[in-house]
Amino acid sequence: MSEQTNTIGHAIDRVDGRLKVMGHAKYAAEFANTDVVHAVLVQSTIAAGTILAIDALVARSMPGVIDVITAENAEKLHKAPEIQQAISFPLLQSNEVLFNGQHIAIVVADSLQQAQEAAATVVVRYRPQDAVTSMEGRDGDQRKPSKKLNGKFEIDSATGDFSSAFEAAPVKISATYKTPVEHHNPMEPHATIAAWSGDKLKVWTATQGISGTQQTLAGFFGLAENDVTVICPFVGGGFGSKGNTWTPVTLAAMAARHVKRRVKLEITREQMFFSNGYRPQTRQALKLAADRDGKLLALRHDGVIATAMPGAGEFAEPVALISRMLYACPNISTSHRLIDINQSLPTYMRGPGEASGSFALESGMDELAVALDMDPVALRMRNLIDSDASEGKPFASKPLAECYTKAAEAFGWSRRTPAPRSMKNGRMLVGMGMATTSYPTNRMKASAEVAMLQDGTVIVRCGTQDLGTGTYTTMAQVAAAELGVSPDRVRVELGDSRLPKAPVSGGSMTTASVLPAVQEAATAVREALFDMALKAKGDQWHNLDRTALTLDNGAVVGPNSQLGITDLLAQASLPSLSRKVEATPSDEADTFSRHAFGAQFAEVHVDPDFGTVRVKRWVGAFDVGRVINAKTARSQLIGGIVFGIGMALMEETRTDRASGRFANANIADYLIPVSADIPDINTIFVETGDPITTRLGVKGIGELPTVGAAAAIANAVYHATGKRIRDLPIRLDKVMA
Ligand code: MOS
Repeated sequence: MSEQTNTIGHAIDRVDGRLKVMGHAKYAAEFANTDVVHAVLVQSTIAAGTILAIDALVARSMPGVIDVITAENAEKLHKAPEIQQAISFPLLQSNEVLFNGQHIAIVVADSLQQAQEAAATVVVRYRPQDAVTSMEGRDGDQRKPSKKLNGKFEIDSATGDFSSAFEAAPVKISATYKTPVEHHNPMEPHATIAAWSGDKLKVWTATQGISGTQQTLAGFFGLAENDVTVICPFVGGGFGSKGNTWTPVTLAAMAARHVKRRVKLEITREQMFFSNGYRPQTRQALKLAADRDGKLLALRHDGVIATAMPGAGEFAEPVALISRMLYACPNISTSHRLIDINQSLPTYMRGPGEASGSFALESGMDELAVALDMDPVALRMRNLIDSDASEGKPFASKPLAECYTKAAEAFGWSRRTPAPRSMKNGRMLVGMGMATTSYPTNRMKASAEVAMLQDGTVIVRCGTQDLGTGTYTTMAQVAAAELGVSPDRVRVELGDSRLPKAPVSGGSMTTASVLPAVQEAATAVREALFDMALKAKGDQWHNLDRTALTLDNGAVVGPNSQLGITDLLAQASLPSLSRKVEATPSDEADTFSRHAFGAQFAEVHVDPDFGTVRVKRWVGAFDVGRVINAKTARSQLIGGIVFGIGMALMEETRTDRASGRFANANIADYLIPVSADIPDINTIFVETGDPITTRLGVKGIGELPTVGAAAAIANAVYHATGKRIRDLPIRLDKVMA
């Protein structure tokens, strides 16, 4: 393979970059501008109770209005299919109100403006009930989650004997950490266009999982899966908010069937706070104990997490999973409890569990280092472990020590003087903090088809999604490398449910799931081309060993001559040669615990008079397995760190306690970092590979860089100021309190 064709690891530009910057990449809402009517959602203004009546007389009489759909006239849906992605509330199936902002009616009109105008005239009469709008003061209502965490992890865990070990230990800390509600706010809001043709449904929608959307819609409408087509070639970010099939997708399809027209339903930025999940509020009690050398003796992590009322679904953010596996400790106890509140259903958000859980664990490790008078990096090095005690399996690969060393070196950690307030820059207090990150290396089975055309073009087909992460590009790179063509000769087709099936793009698993399928299918095409070459006319090919063959630049290359693919396929009268493969994780992979790791180092400057915190420098070293594209991989790492900086310093959705409504439901009052908030970020790839998970050696890195980031900043703020902030976000009022 030449340099030009094997670009694996190189920083090549996104193959879809030009389309995007030219405005030619079509997102869900852009698929129909004519022959489409518009739906607008009406939301409840109370948090709990019953709808007595919805008066839409005025709305129905307004110009352009086609109909108003409420629980009165909405079609009765089938039961939700038994998949995690299917969200079944609110779908206009009852008069029950379980949260403020709940969708209770759909207004459909010829134009968006007409629908908005009419929606504003809808009058709703309620019988309100007392609502639970906060988890504060509700400890008596704590309950166990009804299902295993993430569908597979035990809710509670206990190894050894935490209580006696903690009791007897010479050095210990005990603290409670809090994380607020946070919303994903991807750049592209949710949008769906739904079109029925008889009993067949087609939707264009913004989703992290076309396959889950297909199954969900087929389930609700009682259709065969193949009668539902889901199209989603581009996604403007998801971060977990597009992992489920949220109810506006189903409502758009209901509306389209109801008015017998093609319907477009775009969620407003404000509605994004009520319609598609959020990171739930958590309170986490942590206890750590060590011997005087810093060896951990006991660890306890108890998470209390807010969730929706049972009728609206359940989500238990698994905050304590990371405490079960990250460090060597003989006595570990963890638990997860829920408090039901009248708010919409929370969901996965970048590093769900690990991002919020590591804020507690990694802040706690810093507190323990202070109590031990020990360097925080040395404390973590002291407690390295090469097997996962919670699963009783060795880690497939774990270059964590190398991550600490490389990041500390690049950061200049040795210049840090440990005492709080001991480092200054002018009048600014300088703080240096660090934390560990880890996230599971997930992989699920995926199928892909690769075709070589006579003209040397390669087509890759796979029903995956590109959230903006670079999936199109890495798929092209892998196929190109296997088939000896340059990536620009590869055309990638994804985001269509008629393509070979792939899993949801969540849990950072797309690269590790989809690329092996592409690679195997491309390998199968290559082998088929070698078969053809070995049978080709001319003696010199007949007795060749296939290991002597390569594919390069549109030809099968042998020791003494080459055969053009165009000729090979033409001679066989094949317009193209294709192979479809389903790639599954090996059984061997199950005998290992598979995680990615990393080390996060942050420097902050804190104004001693105002308490403002600025992140000045960042170094992260990440166990990425193997990099497929240095540009898109770095972009994932930077993006994840920025996400973590937002989590640490800014992001917080506030609830109006009286109404239960999210009060800052817009991106002016919900703060997210802008360029001026973000320092130079140095990302270091630690590429030791993970041959157990995939032949390519990759590990998912979408969520890894967010985990640990908030704790690294909190620890840096402590170092700068001597103030330990255990309640995110770290605002100036908390710094000055
Ligand atoms: Mo990610 S929060 O698993 O989409």
